[in-house]
Amino acid sequence: MTTKIWKEEELKEASDRLEGKDPEDAIRWAIAHFYPDLALACSFGPEDVCLVDMQTKINPEVKIFYLDTGLLFKETYDTRDRLIKKYGISPLQYRPTMTLEEQAKAHGDKLWAVNPDLCCKIRKIEPLMEALKGLRCWITGIRREQSPTRANAQVVEWDKSFNLVKVNPVVKWTIKDVWNYIHKYNVPYNILHDKGYPSIGCEPCTKPVKPGEDARAGRWAGFQKTECGLHNK
Ligand code: ADX
Repeated sequence: MTTKIWKEEELKEASDRLEGKDPEDAIRWAIAHFYPDLALACSFGPEDVCLVDMQTKINPEVKIFYLDTGLLFKETYDTRDRLIKKYGISPLQYRPTMTLEEQAKAHGDKLWAVNPDLCCKIRKIEPLMEALKGLRCWITGIRREQSPTRANAQVVEWDKSFNLVKVNPVVKWTIKDVWNYIHKYNVPYNILHDKGYPSIGCEPCTKPVKPGEDARAGRWAGFQKTECGLHNK
């Protein structure tokens, strides 16, 4: 089988066409062109639980993976388990090569508090590279309004960091669109969202935010950092 090489303009043309359509159309497009070499990257955040619902209704066989840093909230695992129960999915778990103990030995205790970039590299980026091995496309839940670094994200784009096609079906959704979908289809979600945590990553690097604060203000609070490196341009 020959693997199609996508030109930038072909991806742009597909993206422009999908821009005015529903997120499900982007998922269908991705499946039509890349199945079985594609996967949904699921952090169990509010966007991702919507994507699990949509994708499972379209094709329950498409891979779903999560990066288990070893520092996730208990409530995040609860969300995973409720999704497994409702949709019958089997999300693949990718873990860092180093345990937390090995990391502490090699780089010092609580690396996240001293050098969060290195911690994200070891616990998220390297496992992501493993997860993406052999894939031609990944689906993510990023949205333009989440941050200035995501404001120019496209529905379909070439991911220069990881060298494969990236599909962002809910890129133009507002947070209201996300919650409307969750309530409409009764999708399981992380209960921490009801307790002041709009955006959730690893436990030591995620704080609740005050009403009116930016949704991502609780991520790596106290550092200039706004991205872990999964979605750098
Ligand atoms: S992060 O880069 O700052 O951590 P964020 O939490 O906003 O990302 O999530 C954006 C998208 O990245 C998610 O919708 C999901 O596709 C992917 N993602 C983030 N964290 C994970 C994870 N632990 N496992 C799998 N995918 C993830």
